[in-house]
Amino acid sequence: MTEQIALATGPDLPQQRHLVTEIPGPASQALAARRQASVARGVSSVLPVFARAAGGGVLVDVDGNSLIDFGSGIAVVSVGNSAPLVVEGVTEQVASFTHTCFMVAPYEGYVRVCEELARLTPGGHEKRSILVNSGAEAVENAVKIARLATGREAVVAFDHAYHGRTNLTMALTAKNMPYKNGFGPFAGEVYRMPMAYPMRWPGGPERCAAEAIDVVTGLIHSQVGEQNVAAVIIEPIQGEGGFIVPPDGFLPGLAEFCRANDIVLIADEIQSGFCRTGDWFATQHEDVVPDLITTAKAMAGGLPLAAVTGRAELMDAVHPGGLGGTYGGNPVACAAALGAIATMEQQDLAGRARHIGDIMLPRLQALAEKHPVIGDVRGRGAMIAVELVEPGGLVPDPAAAGQVAAACHAAGLVVLTCGTFGNVLRFLPPLVIPDHLLDEGLGILEEAFGAL
Ligand SMILES: Cc1ncc(COP(=O)(O)O)c(C=O)c1O
Repeated sequence: MTEQIALATGPDLPQQRHLVTEIPGPASQALAARRQASVARGVSSVLPVFARAAGGGVLVDVDGNSLIDFGSGIAVVSVGNSAPLVVEGVTEQVASFTHTCFMVAPYEGYVRVCEELARLTPGGHEKRSILVNSGAEAVENAVKIARLATGREAVVAFDHAYHGRTNLTMALTAKNMPYKNGFGPFAGEVYRMPMAYPMRWPGGPERCAAEAIDVVTGLIHSQVGEQNVAAVIIEPIQGEGGFIVPPDGFLPGLAEFCRANDIVLIADEIQSGFCRTGDWFATQHEDVVPDLITTAKAMAGGLPLAAVTGRAELMDAVHPGGLGGTYGGNPVACAAALGAIATMEQQDLAGRARHIGDIMLPRLQALAEKHPVIGDVRGRGAMIAVELVEPGGLVPDPAAAGQVAAACHAAGLVVLTCGTFGNVLRFLPPLVIPDHLLDEGLGILEEAFGAL
């Protein structure tokens, strides 16, 4: 087994957890020492191990430990690391040409990705797209487009939102530490509204949808003025903020309010998009059709690519030359995206995401019954989380989340934490993970809760 793991890479890796050293092993520790002397400490990592290879549902470190992956590099490798169609497309493209700059000499790959985005994103209307390098850059561009198209300035974002780390996206992001602290001043004309967070809604989960719509639309009216609002931006399932799933009715209500007031609804599907929640996009769960949609992460199977896709009349309101960037829609990243999208379709990864949810949710609900520290189990498809609290109430327990995560890492299971209060454990396995690894990973999690 150790030899097999040492030789294989990508999807050919044995789909097994296999630990040969303590976590972290000596090779990872040696790299950590070099890292400390060369990498800025502001960039932190979840795992104490350095990666050597990854594929399917495993990540292999430089000591030869094979860990089960419930993180997908933060929802990126949904098709698995080094998925064959991604490798094929990238290899062909990289040997052909690596960069001309789409703003200098355009190429078909960029156009094909935009055609795929028009085909797959919600709504049958005419659409246009722009390709950029990162999620934050996509959000920045979506706001630019909405402002120019409407001639308005205000942007409404939500509590617990995460939209990135650039200046405007820091302003849109809710959480201070570690994302914003000391990095201001932030971009103006951003207004924050309460999020429909069923577990923490004062009137209780049943009243959350209707009351939250009333509160949000009331605050927009009284504090901003509908006629001043260019865009409302929302993650249909909030990611970094704690995998908060708004109650049914909230997103359609928001969409209706935006439509009635000529406000651009931007769905930030950077984390929730591309099959993660069991549909191509999370907004499809309630047939919400956003005016603009931002995508990134899973779209290109691990290469940096992001997009804004939206109504042709909004996107084309921008003058020629008003949008772009040197690397945006790089041909290698476009080839990767075409390979990743083909993989999602051929392997029905939206269906796989629903299957993963069907396996995980009941196991986590049973775990919650045994351990009152789990205050909520939520999510959709393969975007699932548990929120930890002091038993019997709503007081967040980030220490317990950290303890469980550390125990999982030591046992060879990659899990991530998130949440405004740092008390949420989130699970985002690659959608190609085999069932036996899901089962084993959940077993490790159960043991970690048992040891709390
Ligand atoms: C919903 C959402 N928006 C925006 C971003 C920012 O993307 P990036 O890190 O590629 O800039 C993220 C990243 O986690 C995200 O989850």
